[in-house]
Amino acid sequence: MEIALKHGPLPKLKSACIITAVHSPKSLGSSATILDGPSRQTLSTLIKRGDVSGKLSETLLLPNISGIAADRVLLVGAGKRSGITAAEYVKLVRKAASVVIGTGLKNATSTLTEVAVDDRDDAWKVQQQILAFDAAAYRFDEFKTVTKSKSAQFSRLTIYVAADGDSAVENEVKFGQCLVHGLKLTKDLANSPGNYCTPQILAERAKQLAKEHKNLKVDVLNEAAMEKLGMGALLSVSKGSEEPAKLITIKYNGDSGQSKPVVLVGKGVTFDSGGISLKPGPQMDEMKYDMCGAATVFGVMLAIAQAQLPINVVGVVPATENLPDGKASKPGDIVTSMSGQTIEVLNTDAEGRLILCDALTYSARFDPDVVVDIATLTGACIMALGHATSALMSNNDELADSLYAAGQLSGDPAWRLPLWDVYQQQIDSPFADMANVGGRAAGSITAACFLARYTKKYRWAHLDIAGTAWNSANPKGATGRPLTLLVQYLRSRIAAAN
Ligand code: BES
Ligand code: MN
Ligand code: ZN
Repeated sequence: MEIALKHGPLPKLKSACIITAVHSPKSLGSSATILDGPSRQTLSTLIKRGDVSGKLSETLLLPNISGIAADRVLLVGAGKRSGITAAEYVKLVRKAASVVIGTGLKNATSTLTEVAVDDRDDAWKVQQQILAFDAAAYRFDEFKTVTKSKSAQFSRLTIYVAADGDSAVENEVKFGQCLVHGLKLTKDLANSPGNYCTPQILAERAKQLAKEHKNLKVDVLNEAAMEKLGMGALLSVSKGSEEPAKLITIKYNGDSGQSKPVVLVGKGVTFDSGGISLKPGPQMDEMKYDMCGAATVFGVMLAIAQAQLPINVVGVVPATENLPDGKASKPGDIVTSMSGQTIEVLNTDAEGRLILCDALTYSARFDPDVVVDIATLTGACIMALGHATSALMSNNDELADSLYAAGQLSGDPAWRLPLWDVYQQQIDSPFADMANVGGRAAGSITAACFLARYTKKYRWAHLDIAGTAWNSANPKGATGRPLTLLVQYLRSRIAAAN
């Protein structure tokens, strides 16, 4: 999706659809008022007759209004004129996007930046409009040869503002374009099936990114190199697969001041069958999404490189399959991680923490300011928080607070769970330094407790995105989360440093 910015006389503006606000009770927004005269009071007449009241998220699509150059006008109920909440605004722009894209339009012009929102500025409103339209317009039809959906054609959102020269809005339109590119990369990778997204293919994609963006540097370690580093936990997961594991590093140096980097570690299990502790058959296809953490890291790196953010970020992606075969790890096996700590693998399906622990130990070499890992780590996370909220755990309150705030602001929320020492005993093992599972109780917390044993040297947070990274239906597919949370966190860091 392309994003444009426009100003100038609204009635003369050519577009498949102008989206414009109506407030309750029964009053036209400022753009609608401008359109009303040339339309010979068509819009105000509709209000008087009660066809539209301005109630939040109500919509009315009007084709061919004489006096207005655009093909259609979409009236959207925007609630009370004095201001609505951020959540209400998100709801209304999502509704507008679903009507426009559901109708099969190719482009639209939104005047909804004019709607007053409590505690939010124009830049935020611009970003939310872009995110809503991009989410609704996204299709993954690379593998369809016959019926490409007609709504796949929505290709341009124009943000309309009454006057030009607002640099905050201009910047946000440019930044929004970078976000959209990042989100597309994340969702395309995540939606790709396991046979088209192996560790090798992820590594090649990373190298291609570095070719296209000179400010990204990519380094890929093969299994022999990982063996030398002593990554016995990571390699124990890839043993049962014909596809070799890869450890992918993507570096972005946007800050000439050489500040310590943020390191983002993304779980990259390109297919998780569970291994010898084989998963049940139903919905096993969804385990192609077990690399959504990795896909998010790729998308963030692309977005910030395109936006040229003044910050240093390193993306680290341990990529592997988790499959059963004669060479696969067995329940009870003991492996030695890069940190030297030994792990009793009680369940080969708890493989995410095994690859992450070595990637987290490896991350210390970048002398990080903070490390954030992103992983579809536990089914228990869905039981705890459902599909609306990612889980957040951290060994540092300030970092946790910043990530929480970034989630709230971006509309990509995360909620903190405790990472207290009392949970650590659940992963004690009689035979090794720790076990890789801690029983049914508090499964997301004990998974994070395992990672905490590898992250003592730096400030660290863990995002469990098992419930938020993809939808199982309506429509099925990757969401791109938590890309916008992470990018907002990085932007907030930059703002705080200045
Ligand atoms: N990738 C899964 C977690 C998962 C399951 C994410 C379902 C989203 C939906 C992870 O590797 C896994 O299998 N975890 C196990 C851990 C258990 C064996 C302690 C789980 O959650 O069942
Ligand atoms: Mn698993
Ligand atoms: Zn997994």
